Formats: sequence, C-alpha cells, structure tokens
Amino acid sequence: MRSSHITGLLCAALLSLFAATASAQPAAPATQAPATPAHFANGGPETCLKCHNDAKVNPILQTPHASKGDPHAPFGQMGCESCHGAAGDHVDSRANKPSVLFKGPNKSPAAARNEMCLTCHQNGLRMNWQGSQHANQDMACNDCHQVHVRKDPVLIKMSQAEKCFTCHAEQRSQVFRFSHHPIREGKVTCSDCHNPHGSPGPKLLKEVTVNETCYNCHAEKRGPLAWEHEPVRENCLTCHTPHGSNQPRLLVQRSPYLCQECHSNSSHQANPQSGQQLPGKTGFNGAISTNFRSFARGCVNCHSQIHGSNSPAGMWFTR
Ligand code: HEC
Ligand code: HEC
Ligand code: HEC
Ligand code: HEC
Ligand code: HEC
Ligand code: HEC
Ligand code: HEC
Ligand code: HEC
Ligand code: HEC
Ligand code: HEC
Repeated sequence: MRSSHITGLLCAALLSLFAATASAQPAAPATQAPATPAHFANGGPETCLKCHNDAKVNPILQTPHASKGDPHAPFGQMGCESCHGAAGDHVDSRANKPSVLFKGPNKSPAAARNEMCLTCHQNGLRMNWQGSQHANQDMACNDCHQVHVRKDPVLIKMSQAEKCFTCHAEQRSQVFRFSHHPIREGKVTCSDCHNPHGSPGPKLLKEVTVNETCYNCHAEKRGPLAWEHEPVRENCLTCHTPHGSNQPRLLVQRSPYLCQECHSNSSHQANPQSGQQLPGKTGFNGAISTNFRSFARGCVNCHSQIHGSNSPAGMWFTR
C-alpha cells in the first residue's frame, strides 16, 4: 500500500510535467494520481507532535519558525505543513507520506523542497537565487540549512565553513596555508565575502565587484588617493588571492617577481638621480647586483605605500 501511494505521487508529478505523454503510459488503476490534492491535517503542530515529539524533530520549537505569534512564521500559518506540505493523509495512515520530504531515500526533488522555503524567503538575500550557481546545480536550501536544530550551524561563524568545505575541498586546503584570512580562527567566514544564495557579481560575491567586496572591511584601501596605483583600483586579485597563500600577505607571488610582471627590469636605471642606491646594470631580474643591498628585502621596502598615497610627494609610493 505504502509503495503504491508513493508511485501515485510520482505519477502525479509525471502527469503534471509530461501531461501529454504520461496519459499514454499504461498505468495500473491503483497507482492513478488521486483525484483530489492531499488534504491538510488542520490540527496545528500539536497533531504532528503527538507522534513526533522527539529529539530529531522538536528542537525546532526553540527557533523563530515555531513562533505562533508571528503571522509570517510557519507556526503562525500551517504549522509543520507550511514546510512539509499537506500531511492529512499521513495523519490518517502512516502508509501515506507528507507531500514534501526533505531527506532520506524518498526525498522530494530540490525544486519542490525549495518552493516551500521560498514561499516565505524569496526576497532579501535570495533575490538572485534563481539562475545562481548553486541553484543551477540543483541544490536545495537544506543542502546547507538545518531547521530541526536550535541553531543552524551554517549561520554560526565558527561552523559555517565546515559546511561549505563538504563540497569545496580546494578552499579548505587554501585556508590552511601560511597566510590566510582568519577563517579557521572564526573571525571571518565565507558569507562575509560571498552570498551563497546568488549575486549579480562574479563568483557569488556579496558585492558587484571584487574590490567593493574587499572595501567592506579594508575601507582604507578604497581611496580616492592623490596618487593611485592603477592595478589596485582595477582588481585586488592582481596581487592577492582571497582564501590563502604560501606567500606572506596573501600575495599571489613574492615581490619582486610580483612587480616585475608589469615593471620592466630597467625602470630604475632610468632614474639615476634619485639619490638612492638603486640597481646598476644588472637590473631587477634574477642576477642581482650585490651592491644593491635593499634588493633582497623586496620592492615594498621602499615602495611601502603600494596601494597608493596621499602624500604630496607620494608619486613613487615611497611615502
Ligand atoms: C499517529 C502518529 C503520527 C502522526 C500524527 C504524524 N506522524 Fe509523521 N510519521 C509517523 C511515523 C511512525 C513515521 C515514520 C514512518 C516511516 O518511517 O515509514 C512518520 C514519518 C514522518 C515523516 C518522514 C517521512 C519519511 O519517509 O521520510 C515526516 C516528514 C512526517 N512524519 C511529518 C509529519 C507531519 C508534518 C505530521 C502532522 C501533519 C505528522 N507527521 C503526523 C507518525 C506520525
Ligand atoms: C511560513 C513561512 C516560512 C517558511 C515556509 C519557511 N520559513 Fe524560514 N523563517 C520564517 C520566519 C518568519 C523566520 C524568522 C524571521 C526571520 O529571521 O526572517 C524565518 C527564519 C529562517 C532562518 C533564520 C533562522 C535564525 O535562526 O535566524 C533560516 C535559515 C530559515 N528561515 C530557513 C528556512 C528554510 C531552509 C525553509 C524551508 C525548509 C524555511 N525557512 C521555510 C518563515 C518561513
Ligand atoms: C550554499 C549554502 C546555502 C544554500 C544552498 C542556501 N543557503 Fe541560506 N544561508 C546560507 C548562509 C551561509 C547564510 C548566512 C548568511 C549571512 O550570514 O550573511 C544563510 C542565511 C539564510 C537565511 C537567514 C538570513 C536572512 O536572509 O534572513 C535564510 C532565511 C536563508 N538563508 C534561507 C535560504 C533559502 C530559502 C534557501 C533555498 C532557496 C537557502 N537559504 C539556500 C547558506 C545557504
Ligand atoms: C521551516 C520548515 C519546516 C518546518 C516548519 C518543519 N519541518 Fe520538518 N523538516 C524540514 C527540513 C528542511 C527537514 C530536513 C532535516 C533538517 O533540515 O533538519 C525536516 C525533517 C523532518 C523530519 C525527518 C524526516 C524527513 O524526511 O523529512 C520529520 C519527521 C519532520 N521534519 C517532521 C516535522 C514536524 C512534525 C514538524 C512540526 C512540528 C516539522 N517537521 C516542521 C523542514 C521543516
Ligand atoms: C552540496 C555541495 C555544496 C555546498 C554545501 C556548497 N557549495 Fe558552493 N558550489 C557547489 C557547486 C556544485 C558549485 C558549482 C560548481 C563549481 O563552480 O565548483 C558551487 C559553486 C560555488 C562558488 C563559485 C561560483 C562560481 O561562479 O564559480 C562559490 C563562491 C561557492 N560555491 C561558495 C559556497 C559557500 C560559501 C558555501 C557554504 C556557505 C557553499 N558554496 C556550499 C556545491 C556546494
Ligand atoms: C575575503 C573574502 C573571501 C572569503 C572570506 C571567502 N572567499 Fe571565496 N572567493 C573570494 C573571491 C574574491 C573569489 C574570486 C576569486 C577569483 O575570481 O579568482 C572567491 C572565489 C571562490 C570560489 C570559486 C573558486 C574559483 O576558482 O572559481 C569558491 C568555490 C569559493 N570562493 C568558496 C569559498 C568558501 C567555501 C569560503 C569559506 C571557507 C570562502 N570562499 C571565503 C573571496 C572570499
Ligand atoms: C569580513 C571582512 C573582510 C573582508 C570582506 C576582506 N578582508 Fe582581508 N582581512 C580581514 C581580516 C580580519 C584580516 C586579518 C587582519 C589581521 O590579522 O590583522 C584580513 C587580512 C587581509 C590581508 C593580510 C593578510 C596577512 O597575511 O597579513 C590581505 C592581503 C587581505 N586581507 C586582502 C583582502 C582582499 C583582497 C579582500 C577582498 C577579496 C579582503 N581582504 C576582504 C577581513 C576582511
Ligand atoms: C600591485 C599589487 C597589489 C595590489 C593590486 C593590491 N595589493 Fe594589497 N598588498 C600588496 C603588497 C606587496 C602587500 C605587502 C605589503 C608589505 O608587506 O608591506 C600588500 C598588503 C596588503 C594588506 C596587508 C597590509 C596592509 O596594508 O594592510 C592588505 C589588507 C591588502 N594588501 C589589501 C589589499 C586590497 C583590499 C586591495 C584591493 C583594493 C589590494 N590589497 C591590492 C600588493 C598589492
Ligand atoms: C598588473 C600590473 C602591475 C603590477 C603587478 C604592479 N604595478 Fe606598479 N604600476 C602599474 C601601472 C599600470 C602603473 C602606472 C604607470 C604609469 O602611469 O606610467 C604603475 C605605477 C607604479 C609606480 C609609480 C611610478 C610610475 O611609473 O607611475 C611604482 C613606484 C610602482 N608601480 C611600483 C610597483 C611595485 C613595487 C609593484 C610590486 C609590489 C608593482 N608596482 C606592481 C602596474 C603594475
Ligand atoms: C632602495 C629603495 C628602492 C627599492 C628597493 C626599489 N625602488 Fe623603485 N624606486 C625607488 C625610488 C626612490 C624611486 C623614485 C625614482 C626617482 O626618484 O627617480 C623609484 C622608482 C620606481 C619606479 C618608477 C620610476 C621608473 O623608473 O619607472 C618604479 C616602476 C619602481 N621604482 C619599481 C620598483 C620595483 C619593481 C622594485 C623591486 C624590484 C623597486 N622599485 C625597488 C626606490 C626603490
């Protein structure tokens, strides 16, 4: 009986999706879609809790979802059935399942599960959910969220990344590198830079550009400054990597190599009057002149204002 009902539900889904072809299928009468939609239990959560008042289910009672006084909350509306859909048939007989199952072998398709949540959570952070990278992978809200817990781990700074790492192993290894954003330390988390629900910008970033995302915390880098360093304005990731690096300061490469991507070896030779002991004929490449004592300390030893300068004499980013 139980499996026949499930087949019935599947049949109903198929019928609605492929109405024309499904009618041509030789379906046994017993597995025909029910003539009327499943009915609601109409007794509030208490009806369900008579049987489900256990540690797996009832921590939800301590969450905002269970607030009966809130007309926007499930318990202010259809109770458990706001998420699980009509379950009157299930109350009548355990052979029947609630309309929407979130886990287990018979779980509903992601779209059906998400539809329940999005009834109430379409806006705000979820504005760009449809068509987003995660939605396109057929992910469901409850691939990240848990609702039958007192506090959803993905909403807690210290435990969020672990959830993401279950699928993003590369980022896990990056945040364990020598230089990293303090993610392991629980001071910064993935959703400080990303909106996993969707974004108008690249890579699910919270803001429309990389730099806008970085300025949220590194506001002093925003400028405008009297002397701008072009690549800094363009994209922080020209020199930095966001999750972790084996170079200091999250750099993609060590200076001088970093700088030499763009600045030719000969640049200092063209400025002999600087008064500094600058490299001679050998230039900036691997074969370094030994009389250029500062070299090993890197370009930013002198060009310390590498992100730009407000000093009247800051055109070389040395002050
Ligand atoms: C009379 C007892 C009883 C009542 C009332 C009841 N349930 Fe159940 N429910 C069960 C039992 C027993 C199971 C486990 C059935 C099984 O594993 O086949 C279950 C299973 C479930 C499942 C998991 C189904 C699955 O296969 O994964 C959900 C979800 C559920 N119930 C929701 C509800 C909701 C919502 C209500 C209220 C509208 C409700 N139940 C009312 C006894 C009850
Ligand atoms: C009937 C409306 C409704 C439905 C359906 C609903 N929610 Fe909510 N949800 C709310 C309300 C109201 C709040 C509390 C107010 C707020 O934080 O926005 C909330 C809060 C939350 C929170 C924040 C919890 C916290 O501790 O701060 C998360 C996460 C969440 N919902 C996820 C979900 C997911 C996932 C689903 C589907 C499985 C879902 N919701 C279904 C109305 C709903
Ligand atoms: C890839 C993981 C992931 C998926 C999938 C996901 N979320 Fe979230 N959700 C998060 C994270 C992380 C936060 C915390 C965001 C923050 O603190 O800025 C969050 C926060 C929330 C909140 C509470 C903050 C708020 O907006 O009020 C709600 C509600 C919520 N999500 C609902 C949903 C719904 C509905 C879906 C499915 C359409 C969904 N989420 C899918 C990871 C996810
Ligand atoms: C906000 C939406 C929401 C509400 C309200 C809700 N549930 Fe759930 N339920 C879920 C999600 C999502 C899961 C998957 C497990 C998880 O996320 O913790 C789940 C899991 C379950 C399960 C485990 C089996 C399964 O396959 O789904 C049972 C049983 C269950 N819920 C019963 C209930 C009962 C009884 C109530 C009312 C007291 C209730 N739920 C209220 C969303 C909800
Ligand atoms: C259930 C697996 C899963 C979980 C959990 C998950 N993701 Fe993803 N995520 C994916 C898949 C699959 C893609 C798309 C394929 C890809 O680009 O790697 C993706 C893509 C992304 C992207 C890249 C988008 C792009 O344009 O390339 C970001 C950023 C991201 N996820 C962040 C997160 C964050 C943050 C969390 C935790 C809050 C998270 N993900 C949780 C599976 C997951
Ligand atoms: C400090 C900001 C920041 C934090 C924190 C952060 N990210 Fe990112 N993430 C970025 C930026 C910026 C990019 C874009 C990288 C690029 O375009 O090369 C990115 C890209 C990604 C991508 C896509 C990678 C690719 O190669 O396309 C994934 C997946 C991702 N992040 C997951 C995560 C996860 C998981 C966490 C938490 C452990 C996290 N991020 C924390 C800023 C951040
Ligand atoms: C949520 C806030 C936040 C955002 C957004 C953010 N950062 Fe950070 N960043 C931090 C914190 C906190 C530190 C550690 C500061 C410390 O340890 O003193 C840090 C450190 C750094 C460091 C120095 C690392 C080291 O090893 O000393 C660099 C470089 C950096 N961030 C670049 C970026 C870039 C590039 C972006 C944008 C992709 C970005 N940050 C976005 C908070 C943030
Ligand atoms: C041209 C390469 C370059 C670009 C582009 C760049 N940085 Fe840096 N950044 C560096 C170097 C080199 C250091 C190390 C400086 C040192 O060790 O004295 C550094 C250090 C940092 C630090 C740690 C020390 C400090 O100054 O606070 C932060 C934070 C930082 N960068 C953020 C950013 C942000 C945000 C952007 C984009 C707005 C950005 N950087 C763009 C080269 C760059
Ligand atoms: C992605 C290319 C790029 C990288 C990497 C880069 N720069 Fe620049 N830098 C520029 C551009 C473009 C200008 C503006 C040149 C101009 O206006 O002629 C500039 C200007 C400068 C200036 C001002 C002098 C001038 O010619 O305007 C100094 C000094 C400088 N860079 C030093 C560095 C140092 C030190 C590093 C490494 C930490 C570095 N740059 C990394 C592209 C880069
Ligand atoms: C010992 C200090 C010092 C070191 C180390 C140093 N610079 Fe300079 N650099 C200067 C000074 C001072 C100027 C201003 C030139 C002048 O006064 O004529 C300058 C000028 C520049 C300029 C702009 C003028 C030009 O010739 O194009 C660039 C670009 C530059 N440096 C890049 C670098 C790079 C790249 C490195 C590392 C490989 C580096 N510098 C290392 C002190 C230094």
